[in-house]
Amino acid sequence: MSFDDIIVTGGAGFIGSNFVHWVIDNQPGVHVTVLDALTYAGNRDNLVGIPGDRLTFVHGDICDAALLDDIVPEAGAIVHFAAESHNDNSIADPEPFVRTNVEGTYRLLEAARKHGTRFHHISTDEVYGDLALDDPARFTEETPYHPSSPYSSTKASSDMLVRAWHRTYGVEATISNCSNNYGPRQHIEKFIPRQITNILSGLRPKLYGDGRNVRDWIHVDDHSSAVWEILNRGRSGETYLIGADGECDNLHVLRHILELMGKSPDDFDWVRDRPGHDRRYAIDSSKLRRELGWEPVHTSFQEGLESAIQWYADNKSWWETAKSEVEAKYAQSGQ
Ligand code: NAD
Ligand code: DAU
Repeated sequence: MSFDDIIVTGGAGFIGSNFVHWVIDNQPGVHVTVLDALTYAGNRDNLVGIPGDRLTFVHGDICDAALLDDIVPEAGAIVHFAAESHNDNSIADPEPFVRTNVEGTYRLLEAARKHGTRFHHISTDEVYGDLALDDPARFTEETPYHPSSPYSSTKASSDMLVRAWHRTYGVEATISNCSNNYGPRQHIEKFIPRQITNILSGLRPKLYGDGRNVRDWIHVDDHSSAVWEILNRGRSGETYLIGADGECDNLHVLRHILELMGKSPDDFDWVRDRPGHDRRYAIDSSKLRRELGWEPVHTSFQEGLESAIQWYADNKSWWETAKSEVEAKYAQSGQ
């Protein structure tokens, strides 16, 4: 099944906007309606350059049932990215996470049920909790849920709602759980852009705890191509894990950035650890590769980091005004 009119929630955020650009560039004839509340993480400029006849922008909240009743009947599918997405924020104030990630997903599922709309839910590998550094295991679709943070527990809750709405009401739905994304337009509160923009601002990068926590990095465009395959060819009711075999510990990632930006490998500060900090994430994406033939194409982490560094250097006006506020917030928690 191929959809030519889709709603993308959270399409003004990091992954949502990259997905919209990917669809516009790679799927001629598809029209996208972005529904986004433009929170601190959303930016209308992330969608600049997209032709007006391919994009409709709706400034609104996914918890607004009346608004959903207006726009959902026109669409063939909903691709649901909108969320509160940052672990550190969820530790400081969980309430918006419960509202947007749980209630918002519920409202969208109700709209999809009412109007018979295909639903694809974007989720995270963090629902599975974490793995030990010396454990050879990776997460699969069968790994039990064991979320650690307020953020990941609200994402796990939203996944459960999607499963229930599929089984009980027959909503045509799929879920994807992806690992850590990087690339252009990622908010500067997140690890890689925070370190790049610190260096560009003359500040020292900040590493939590002992720096040995492992994340499984994937370029955001590879996430987009996987979501498109699952939306169009995935089996309803199924979950697919998305990952690109990119495990690396935080100290190595930071030293790589320092080296690429011409700094000494010790030119950073060790700071207070995140409470409940997950140790390691690792994705086994063989189901997605086997069933849908998907493969990542951005397999050089070095090239991906170089182009991310170049993007932040070339787009200072995109992030400079937010920088002092983000750093002031981190300073309050000793990070
Ligand atoms: P982001 O914080 O950059 O963007 C979130 C977007 O959602 C913003 O544009 C924001 O304005 C919008 N939004 C927030 N609350 C809303 C509401 N109530 N109504 C409408 N719009 C609202 O997030 P991101 O990093 O792009 O993540 C997108 C999705 O991908 C999330 O669901 C996240 O859980 C998931 N995910 C992220 C990663 C990652 O590495 N960043 C990895 C796996 C999964
Ligand atoms: O795994 C997928 C998840 O990846 C997504 O679901 C989340 O939305 C996304 O934010 C991301 O979560 P993380 O908590 O892994 O990402 P973050 O960029 O916040 O941190 C990555 C790692 O870097 C983590 O181990 C904490 C560490 N860190 C982070 C910051 C901001 C530092 O050492 N220093 C920092 O300044």
